Amino acid sequence: MRVSQVIGPIRGVCRVPGDKSISHRAAILAALAEGTSLIQGFSPARDCLATLEVLAVLGVRAIRAGDEMTIKSTGPGTLVPPPGPLHCRRSGTTMRLMAGVLAGRPFRSVLTGDPQLVRRPMDRVAEPLRSMGADVELAPGGGPCVAIRGGGLKGIEYRLRVASAQVKSAVLLAGLQASGVTTVVEATPARDHTERLLAFAGAEVDREGSNGTVRTSIRPGPLRAFDLEVPGDLSSAAPLIAAAALVPGSDLLIEGVGLNPTRTGFLRVLQRMGLSVEIDPSEPGGPEPSGHIRVCHGHLAAVEVGSADVPGVIDELPLLGLLATQAEGVTVVRGARELRVKESDRIAGLVAGLRALGAEAEELEDGFAVRGPTPLAGASCDANGDHRLAMTFAVAGLVASGPVSVLGMEFVPDSFPGFRETLEGLR
Ligand code: S3P
Repeated sequence: MRVSQVIGPIRGVCRVPGDKSISHRAAILAALAEGTSLIQGFSPARDCLATLEVLAVLGVRAIRAGDEMTIKSTGPGTLVPPPGPLHCRRSGTTMRLMAGVLAGRPFRSVLTGDPQLVRRPMDRVAEPLRSMGADVELAPGGGPCVAIRGGGLKGIEYRLRVASAQVKSAVLLAGLQASGVTTVVEATPARDHTERLLAFAGAEVDREGSNGTVRTSIRPGPLRAFDLEVPGDLSSAAPLIAAAALVPGSDLLIEGVGLNPTRTGFLRVLQRMGLSVEIDPSEPGGPEPSGHIRVCHGHLAAVEVGSADVPGVIDELPLLGLLATQAEGVTVVRGARELRVKESDRIAGLVAGLRALGAEAEELEDGFAVRGPTPLAGASCDANGDHRLAMTFAVAGLVASGPVSVLGMEFVPDSFPGFRETLEGLR
């Protein structure tokens, strides 16, 4: 698909769809809670619809009216043995979080997905769930399908081997259904939406931190139904923010975006690059902070990003690579090996796309290096079936001297249906 160039700056006020990570968790926790939960601002992302589909096969009733979702449950017992495999489409969050839920249910379930998801690692989730007592089989090679026979779990203390909110969440969701206390120890804390929402729904969750290490403990117990307003998705705001940062004369205000500090790493990195990013937090209500973000075009300086920064900016690193092509100096991202096992190998795909555009970019084993500023030329960029790479290359099309065609724009609705229309509305 050819992405037409925006003539002129990105200006105006907009909103983005509800946060994808929070929406997955809200649907899952509502399915485990007793009563009727109301979720406003539920993400229309295809990934979140995959979670709803999986819950539906397990017998959970969700009624969707626009971005409002009502989910009725009588607790975990509402989930019934599924008549067939649970199809998670391309959503890693669906597969990993549901593995944690199903580890606690006394029946056999099989989780599967599109070929792109089936290639991604699931041993990271299988290992802790097995040590809690679940019977988890992985397809040969270590990836999904995953077959789980759950129930009878016992709490464990588990130190995360990769900084992954999905793995942490799977263990906590299993811990909610285990006997005794389950503790997850993180050396580099990842997004904490699960912990916040569990506590909001009445779970006994304790968190303590020292020297950067965070210990999160959960005790088994019932959840109560909740009313939740999901803030806008900062990861969907990010390509719009990057566009405003890159296109001269831009001035963009995005309203009602999630500002959870475990997710705002991109904004902090932009500030380190010298960009003025105004953050206006709204009154806190509910478990997640939110507010408005204003970004104007500005001069960018190169930046170094290391493993301590990575979890907070993980999904925005491709955009950072693009921004680095227009920043003065060499930007180096390290400690980001996880990018190789996302929806695609984002290090290889990003660097190939940036080079096609004429940028000076280099792959590192655990990140990338980009020297700027370099003028970008028109090119054809392959997103490798990855929504975040597709949006990154689409934004590149706004500053390239010729047309940029992006192979794989059809994957953008995995996280951000309406991306193109939102961007065009700001011209
Ligand atoms: C997510 C966690 C991150 C992120 C993904 C969404 C989540 O993955 O990249 O897009 O909702 O928990 P990891 O937990 O594997 O780092």
